[in-house]
Amino acid sequence: MNKLVFGSSEDMHELADKSVHLVVTSPPYFNAPFDYPDLFDTYDQFLNLMRKVAKEIKRVLDDGRIACFVCDDTLVNGSKFPVVADITRIFFEEGFKYRDKIVWVKPEGYIRISRRSGVMLQHPYPMYFYPDNLQESILIFQNGNFDYSKIPNSIKEESKINLDEWSKDKWFLSVWKITNVLPFSNRLEKGIAAFPEEIAYRLIKLFSYKGETVLDPFLGSGTTLKVALDLGRKAVGYELDLELLDVIKEKLGIGKQARLVDAEQFDIVIRDDAKHLRKELQRRITEQKSVTKKTEK
Ligand SMILES: C[S@@+](CC[C@H](N)C(=O)[O-])C[C@H]1O[C@@H](n2cnc3c(N)ncnc32)[C@H](O)[C@@H]1O
Repeated sequence: MNKLVFGSSEDMHELADKSVHLVVTSPPYFNAPFDYPDLFDTYDQFLNLMRKVAKEIKRVLDDGRIACFVCDDTLVNGSKFPVVADITRIFFEEGFKYRDKIVWVKPEGYIRISRRSGVMLQHPYPMYFYPDNLQESILIFQNGNFDYSKIPNSIKEESKINLDEWSKDKWFLSVWKITNVLPFSNRLEKGIAAFPEEIAYRLIKLFSYKGETVLDPFLGSGTTLKVALDLGRKAVGYELDLELLDVIKEKLGIGKQARLVDAEQFDIVIRDDAKHLRKELQRRITEQKSVTKKTEK
């Protein structure tokens, strides 16, 4: 059964041990000023959440299966936090194999010379170098060894990778060039820091078989679950922020006639620990922007 749980993924008791075949997710970007200002009191609080979620993923993920974390180091008030290294270390310490890292590169045209890299224009001297960021990491962890002989041949054939697509779009490289979700004002993913469907599409095709269960412990707008359903997988996910319920329903087509899934096919659980975050985060972001504008004048 497909499942949506509103509550913190540090506790995923709704999922049985070894009931998940793949995790594809992107955790909140620590306290990133334009996405999650002050969501966590401290960096340690963020890392504690990552550890609890890693432990729960270890429990629910079947033997040999994969967990993919799309993440990046985060710049908060001029300090960079080593999120990628710390998540890698936490998963390693919790008993996962560190299988791979893919670098997701976004198109260059999308980034303008920012106030960060632009420092060089005013001070063209050594030590004023601050590059603009065009990439994120896709960390790939594995829960022990995978027994390839367990998968029936018919399922293998149904899940076969299209090698034309694999070679044309260069899936075989450790660098994937994929356009980010563009910031159109009326987009469904506004204020969510969503990743593009293409990332979920490649990972789900590469690391799960038809009919298996894909988990996203940090749903956001629900991109992973939408693609999982499109690809004939079952979908389960957790989201802390109850204010995203309608966005997720819209993306998954829940309750809409002739759309992707009927409401009955989704078990929606709203727990006591679900929160209301979005409006408050948006208010803080707007407040920050107006302070920045005033100081630029
Ligand atoms: C970067 S977004 C995920 C975006 C998603 N990949 C998409 O494409 O829309 C991270 C999400 O994690 C949620 N979140 C933060 N803390 C959480 C927690 N403890 N449990 C579950 N979700 C949490 C945030 O509200 C946010 O929606």
